[in-house]
Amino acid sequence: MGGFLYRVITALSMTIGRAEAARAVADRLAPSAGDELLDIGCGPGAAAREGRRRGATVIAIDPDPLMLWLARAISALRRAGAVAWVQGEAEAIPVAGGSATVFWTLSSLHDWQNRATGLREVHRVLAPGGRFLAAERLVAPGARGHAAHGLTQAQANGLARELTTTGFDSVRVETVSLRRRTLVLVTASR
Ligand SMILES: C[S@@+](CC[C@H](N)C(=O)[O-])C[C@H]1O[C@@H](n2cnc3c(N)ncnc32)[C@H](O)[C@@H]1O
Repeated sequence: MGGFLYRVITALSMTIGRAEAARAVADRLAPSAGDELLDIGCGPGAAAREGRRRGATVIAIDPDPLMLWLARAISALRRAGAVAWVQGEAEAIPVAGGSATVFWTLSSLHDWQNRATGLREVHRVLAPGGRFLAAERLVAPGARGHAAHGLTQAQANGLARELTTTGFDSVRVETVSLRRRTLVLVTASR
């Protein structure tokens, strides 16, 4: 019961203050009508809804049924556009190869069990020319506990190198300051 309550509180906490990050990511990759967007580790779905608002067809994936339930409930309450909410994980993305033109993941990549497998999956599902973005909170070296949930600058640079060896092009690392946090954005194209 304690575990379930913790998960509910964690999920609810992810519904607060996510819109600004969602807009920052959507501004970078500019999804629009004609794009097939995948959001992996979508949580309660702020970024997926932002992508849909901008006209893309969206599949939003998360391993946690509670997150998907919350995402569906918030979308219904807000009468947001249709998003396909699907259970799955980065290491085995449940979509066909070459089917996405835009792929993003916000505050999730640091949680993936096997990042190398996840990045190979991203490469598989993106169509040639597809755009990828990983957004994480910029964290200080040596941070612990919740303060460590994100990437240090060095870890972001390591992710960029891993993307290059996985076969991505135009890999770039930048930081963006939001009102409540600084994000590190790692972008690439397929
Ligand atoms: C901190 S939440 C971020 C949610 C949302 N992207 C946001 O920014 O509000 C991290 C999410 O990643 C999901 N996650 C954890 N491991 C994952 C994996 N291996 N593949 C995909 N998603 C994963 C979690 O279930 C959770 O919903």
